[in-house]
Amino acid sequence: MAETFVPAIKIADVPANGMVVVNVNGVRIAVAKVDGQYYAFADECTHEQCSLAEGDLAGTTVTCMRHGAEFDVRSGAVLAPPAVVPVKLYRTRVDGEALHIEV
Ligand code: FES
Repeated sequence: MAETFVPAIKIADVPANGMVVVNVNGVRIAVAKVDGQYYAFADECTHEQCSLAEGDLAGTTVTCMRHGAEFDVRSGAVLAPPAVVPVKLYRTRVDGEALHIEV
């Protein structure tokens, strides 16, 4: 099935410099807003599948609460172990009052 943008959350419901979890077509996706930009990524640490949205966000770095792996929400890249695999990113698009995510 082709990927498509679907409405995921009202932009007003995404806290500035914070994270929320949305469920899009059965997929848990973390949404972060940093300096007015939206980033969407799998809400699943690539180390042991812990929720990343329950971790900490500092700038564009999300830290997993479980063992401290760090990822860059702009690229998905691993910034600190024990994770070694980048986290999956999803493209976002603002459409009126809603944030759409490509799934
Ligand atoms: S589950 Fe995230 S660092 Fe281990």
